[in-house]
Amino acid sequence: MKGKTHPSNDVTLNPSANESIRDVIDRVDESRRTFIKSGVGGTALAALGGVSIAGLVDTVEAAPLPPAAGFGGIGFESIPPSLAPVADMVKVPAGYKVELLMAWGDPVTPAGPAWAEDASQDAAAQENQFGMHTDGMHFFPFPTAGAGRPSNERGLLCVNNEYTHEALLHTDGLNAATGVASAVVTIQKVRKSQAAHGVTIAEVRKTGGKWGVHRMTPFGRRITANTPMRISGPAAGHALLKSKKFRILPTGSVEDGVNNGFEAFGTMNNCAHGFTPWGTYLTCEENWNGYFAAPTSGAAIAPEFADQKAEILAGQTRYGISRTGFGYAWHTVDPRFNADTNPLEPNTQGWVVEIDPFNPRSVPVKRTAMGRFKHESAQVAVGPDNSVGFYQGDDERNEYIYKFVCAKPFNPRNRAANMNLLDEGTLYVAKFTSTVGSKAGTFRGEWIALKPGTIGVNGMALRDHPQFAAPTDAEVQAIILIKTREAADAVGATMMDRPEWTALRTYSFGGRPADGYSYGPGRPLEVYCALTNNSRRGNNPASSNNPNGTTNAGGANPPVDAANPRPDNDYGHIIRWREDGNTVKAMGFEWDLFVQCGDKLTTKTLGASYNPAGADGYKGDINGADFGAPDGLWFDNFGRLWIQTDQAGDALGDWRNIGSNTMLCADPNTKEVRRFLTSPPNCEVTGVITSPDGRTMFCGIQHPGDDALATNPKQFSSWPGNQFPTNSAGEPVPNGAAGRPRSSVIVITKEDGGIIGS
Ligand code: FEO
Ligand code: CA
Ligand code: CA
Repeated sequence: MKGKTHPSNDVTLNPSANESIRDVIDRVDESRRTFIKSGVGGTALAALGGVSIAGLVDTVEAAPLPPAAGFGGIGFESIPPSLAPVADMVKVPAGYKVELLMAWGDPVTPAGPAWAEDASQDAAAQENQFGMHTDGMHFFPFPTAGAGRPSNERGLLCVNNEYTHEALLHTDGLNAATGVASAVVTIQKVRKSQAAHGVTIAEVRKTGGKWGVHRMTPFGRRITANTPMRISGPAAGHALLKSKKFRILPTGSVEDGVNNGFEAFGTMNNCAHGFTPWGTYLTCEENWNGYFAAPTSGAAIAPEFADQKAEILAGQTRYGISRTGFGYAWHTVDPRFNADTNPLEPNTQGWVVEIDPFNPRSVPVKRTAMGRFKHESAQVAVGPDNSVGFYQGDDERNEYIYKFVCAKPFNPRNRAANMNLLDEGTLYVAKFTSTVGSKAGTFRGEWIALKPGTIGVNGMALRDHPQFAAPTDAEVQAIILIKTREAADAVGATMMDRPEWTALRTYSFGGRPADGYSYGPGRPLEVYCALTNNSRRGNNPASSNNPNGTTNAGGANPPVDAANPRPDNDYGHIIRWREDGNTVKAMGFEWDLFVQCGDKLTTKTLGASYNPAGADGYKGDINGADFGAPDGLWFDNFGRLWIQTDQAGDALGDWRNIGSNTMLCADPNTKEVRRFLTSPPNCEVTGVITSPDGRTMFCGIQHPGDDALATNPKQFSSWPGNQFPTNSAGEPVPNGAAGRPRSSVIVITKEDGGIIGS
């Protein structure tokens, strides 16, 4: 439909007959039942060639989803594993169609140029293109015409761009390690790398039966490692967050005073994600530590930080700041990332960042109340009383599982009232015990509040521990949040086998409000968490994370326990729990193991520390398709659990019977697992969401052909160009069949138009 106020640029730049943004705004105004309009003024159609940004502020909010149809189990047949040598393609079951939606470098804004196959484009181009290495994602539907119901054909796809493969990002790689001896680190390359990190917000539409990225939209946006952000919540303004301030220019970062503790720049290593019922996106900062380097290990720490030196160095140890970082070498040309000279900058990373995708001018907000660690995901549960909680993993060996409970309830009728809900609440950490639960096979667990008065394992309140001591409890709380890992150490939380995504079970009950995040009578609040692997579990000599917070990141060698029962846990497992009293406010829960991953054919070579008594454990207890290294977990709107894996992508060694990385579908009732998708070599399958009706699935394929050298970028893969001559919109894929591999989002539909998985 072409609307009455159709902006001229949509006519000239987009030949489709799609509705314009202004049409949507107008309809929003007409359908106040589910959407709220405010602030669309007469100055509207200004920027972006006539499409307004200013007019969109606070215009739309997420609408409740329609009730789900019944859960009919899993309706497709498992496909075979993709064994070595791994086919360079994505495969799905018969009856399904897979297409390419968008690949790294595709433009997502009106200013974005088409991707160039030779990787010659600069940071300015990348800032308007899909970032590299796609990860967690969420689909925010627009309202439909008439009833204003959530659209199944138009919305904002918010996608994390976790990290970069520098050898593929630049024409000549980044440094000698990429295979090009003459390549050097330059600020231009680092700026491009920073621009390829963060979050992509793309408007996606189905037009004439074809899904595509709509670039001529004011909603298209890139958030990068340099985007200005706010810090809010209990730790905002604390002295530990007052890092050096820089003016971030294309040619370098120029020191410009001191941050006030309420501002920060950029988000990095955005792995998994979350969303809120008030229609905002949460992006989670995972391995941010690797972008910093402390070349002298703190010996050359800037003199103005001398008083804080011991505290700073302890924090760098606990969070894994090293001399070299992960090899990005940003610090060599961008002093913001030198942890010796700018030692408080790492404290501005490690948070959950809230982004309002419906307001392209909004400033992303780092929510300190949710804690600081290597966040994997933050998945929401909403109670019948509108209480709100988020389940979060800290993905490193021997780290913890957390829950954040908002102090105030969600207001479903007033979006603005929710916009700072994440600033106030209680952060808990999980302790999994071997105390038998009320049902066969279950065990008890407890949530420990990370508050000043909580008593640690040494018998002292956290406020009396030297690492958290401060004149007021408000400041103690701020320090606890900045040093979340140390606080969890102090209270004796359970070290887990690398907590990846959490997922809230959904139920196919009629009348369920939205996305399955709501629980209530007959709908137990059941949370799943992928524990992907742990090579240090059960090693000798055994050690723990020290209660005084002095442990090296990932450095403990804990013995097996009830919740993490395998030594040398190569294949991982999935744990789940139900909250006491069916409320997110519970102080206790009952847990069991949903599945222990592995391979029924395995001839795995056991490590020296492996206890033969547990040998059968490696064969897994999977009812159906064998898999390992679970990472992404997501329940669809009909109660199916989707599992995505992140293992060695070459399908060799321990993975020779399991094949390449996969996406599987599990029935939470029967525990049956079926293999839905197999991937190209050397990639990870991560990020999944569907349209509200479940008939379109978006899925991420990250880092296909990883480890290729800059001198031979297609060494292991030319996906997706080799599989898809055109993308889902019918446009030619620029690199054709023989170009460098690109992290991409694919779109999966059922040929009969049915619900994915049914
Ligand atoms: Fe980025 Fe924990 O996976
Ligand atoms: Ca992950
Ligand atoms: Ca991963």
